[in-house]
Amino acid sequence: MLLQAATDVRTRAYAPYSRFQVGAALRATSGAIHVGCIVENVAYPEGTCAEAGAIAAMIAAGDSRIAELHVIADSPSPVPPCGGCRQKIAEFADPSVLVTLHTTGGKSFTTTVADLLPGVFTAAHMAKT
Ligand code: THU
Repeated sequence: MLLQAATDVRTRAYAPYSRFQVGAALRATSGAIHVGCIVENVAYPEGTCAEAGAIAAMIAAGDSRIAELHVIADSPSPVPPCGGCRQKIAEFADPSVLVTLHTTGGKSFTTTVADLLPGVFTAAHMAKT
């Protein structure tokens, strides 16, 4: 179900510069599914990743925690989220949450938020000493 949602939203990706379409779908702890796709920009750093779009949709819908996340791209091997997206995912998901990365060719790889971002920066690091 999440794979299908990610596959569907990927077709709506706006990626005229990289030509690399990515779709992401997450299930929030409420059970609702939220999706996102790449939205690139001619000013390249202004583009946003599929994962960021799904997280924004989740927050806009009133959900706050990720229970599971799937990402799909037309890639030779399952596409790993970029470093920035790993930090974004970690903001809203417990370390044990499963993240499954898919290729359009049918390969997949399941990992966890903790394995994607070891040594994650958290609010605890801002505690006054
Ligand atoms: N991208 C994503 O949307 N998600 C990923 O997991 C990796 C990369 C986007 C960013 C950029 O628009 C394009 O893919 C090429 O890097």
